[in-house]
Amino acid sequence: MSETRPINIAIAGLGFGAEFIPIYQRHPGANMAAICQRTQGKLDEVGDQYGIDKRYTDFADLLADPDIDAIHINTPIPDHGAQSIAALKAGKHVACTVPMATTAEECQEIVELTQSTGLKYMMMETVLYAREFLFMQELYKKGELGKLQFFKASHQQDMEGWPGYWPGLPPMHYATHCVGPVLGLAQNQAEYVSCFPSGTIAEEMHDCYGSPFAVETTHIKFKDSDLSAQVYRSLFDVARQYRETIEVYGTKKSVEWPLIEGEPLVVHTAGKPEPEIPERVECPDFGHLLPEEIAPFTTGGVYGGEEGGEHLSFTQGGGHGGSHPHLAHHFVKMLQSGTDAYPNAVQSANITLTGILSHESALKGGELIKLPEWSLQ
Ligand SMILES: NC(=O)c1ccc[n+]([C@@H]2O[C@H](COP(=O)([O-])OP(=O)(O)OC[C@H]3O[C@@H](n4cnc5c(N)ncnc54)[C@H](O)[C@@H]3O)[C@@H](O)[C@H]2O)c1
Repeated sequence: MSETRPINIAIAGLGFGAEFIPIYQRHPGANMAAICQRTQGKLDEVGDQYGIDKRYTDFADLLADPDIDAIHINTPIPDHGAQSIAALKAGKHVACTVPMATTAEECQEIVELTQSTGLKYMMMETVLYAREFLFMQELYKKGELGKLQFFKASHQQDMEGWPGYWPGLPPMHYATHCVGPVLGLAQNQAEYVSCFPSGTIAEEMHDCYGSPFAVETTHIKFKDSDLSAQVYRSLFDVARQYRETIEVYGTKKSVEWPLIEGEPLVVHTAGKPEPEIPERVECPDFGHLLPEEIAPFTTGGVYGGEEGGEHLSFTQGGGHGGSHPHLAHHFVKMLQSGTDAYPNAVQSANITLTGILSHESALKGGELIKLPEWSLQ
């Protein structure tokens, strides 16, 4: 597959999903063709705001539209698997927000559908394209970290009061923000996991998913590698500011995410006198990697149009490390070039299953669980 015409993209789910509309509208390789969400009022509000005429309240009607090449799914977590499967069966390429699905069976079906149809799938994991991650990856690729020795990552968020499917969700069922980057830095795969539970959430949430755990900490052994990673997660009843972190430890340099959001990264350099080993480093922006039309979306700043006449302020850059335009760009580029973006279907399954199987391990007191062969490349 190699397409030079713009890719006709539809977005389903217009909460978080609406943030991607202006990016696709300005991407030179995309045509922001249609939007879909359940209630007509919100659908029209968003459609009118961005000037999008094709609007669907029913996901099945969107799938039946022959003009749509690809669907970017941003609906609630329990729908990701079934909607991705339905979209692939309808002949559409799929980008889906995290996680890929909530069961191993759905992940496997998505992988098999991409293999049997040649259609493309990408899980839109924001941390994999956040500036902090891109900075660490750049250091690694330039050899500045030396040999990689260990990863640590966390995602702590207080979901108290969040509606619907959130209460009682096992922490490791939403682990892609921390599993993704530790596997993604050198594009490794998880081979097996062992996860320990710790603490207890409020009793009324125990039956929601049969999970009483406040914190889950998993160890991930990487395939064909001497590396492993430690990842921990909490969602309820733990006093902690929202934080998604990665720490990467190398022989020459190590990089640690700050303890408090918004503070600089800490880079440790081997061979310096002890007090000089750590250095606070402001993370650079990576907008220069993007087409100029969408580069301003990484910073949340003001966009000046060609004539200097267009001035829009964006909110995206402040959140998720400026990742949204990178995600949209990699998805479009994948569909135009035919070359997979990271993470493709198998890689997305490996990342998502690491969380799902870690929770299974926690339920069995830390038992070691292997990732299935079909999730390894
Ligand atoms: N950093 C990240 O990667 C990140 C950040 C925020 C949200 N998310 C993910 O994005 C998704 C949406 O989160 P949100 O906060 O916008 O949720 P939300 O509940 O505010 O919005 C969900 C949207 O999906 C639509 N929807 C629900 N069922 C649908 C259906 N069957 N067909 C079509 N549309 C349907 C709703 O109408 C609504 O527009 C979640 O899966 C969440 O995990 C990811």
